[in-house]
Amino acid sequence: MLELRDIHKHWEASPEWSLLAGVSLRVGAGETVALLGASGSGKSTLLKIVAGLEAPERGSVWFDGADITALPPERRGFALMFQDFALFPHLNVRDNVAFGPIEQGVRKAEARERAQAMLSRFGLGNHGDARVWTLSGGEQQRVALARALITQPRALLLDEPFSALDAALREQLRAEFRERITEAGMTAILVTHDEQEARAMAQHAWALRDGTLAALW
Ligand SMILES: Nc1ncnc2c1ncn2[C@@H]1O[C@H](COP(=O)(O)OP(=O)(O)OP(=O)(O)O)[C@@H](O)[C@H]1O
Ligand SMILES: [Mg+2]
Repeated sequence: MLELRDIHKHWEASPEWSLLAGVSLRVGAGETVALLGASGSGKSTLLKIVAGLEAPERGSVWFDGADITALPPERRGFALMFQDFALFPHLNVRDNVAFGPIEQGVRKAEARERAQAMLSRFGLGNHGDARVWTLSGGEQQRVALARALITQPRALLLDEPFSALDAALREQLRAEFRERITEAGMTAILVTHDEQEARAMAQHAWALRDGTLAALW
């Protein structure tokens, strides 16, 4: 269970205005929750607080009963995927996916084998040696998901992962991502401003407005 308790945040530049004014949220194991809200409502900021990239002024972040508010991002065991979460341009597709396991201490040869197996499952088996920038936008997002899931993160944080893609591809990837996230038993938070995308991918959705969350479904 991933849990936010009474998160508060404002920016120094505008101290009179609270971006997050007491946000609480629970995401059960294996569950995907969507966060909707207008541009500038604080969705990405909230996700960054979950990831540990921003600190809340008040409130806490919990995972499986442990307070992780003070843990640095790399020790939370979460994987992040952003719209423009750049793949490493100097590495081929396979090595992009193998990067996480190698960082975790897996031997290179084994990490590459695991990466190749993951790519095959994602329909990218023939692209292992390709430079990432030769792939289409949708293929790059698949590689990004493969790279996120291969480390078996404790939770997956997605910030508008498909917003750079055209409508048809977005729809296809929604279903595909949902399947893979479910199959991995992953706990996930999906930030999106697209309600259809939220419906296709999440069991529950919340709207962030005026610094607080309202339940949508
Ligand atoms: N580091 C920062 N310092 C000051 N203000 C910031 C900082 N990061 C974000 N903001 C402001 O906080 C507000 C919320 O930003 P955030 O990126 O969380 O919104 P969002 O809901 O993700 O919007 P979008 O849908 O456009 O991605 C914006 O007004 C933004 O300018
Ligand atoms: Mg955002």
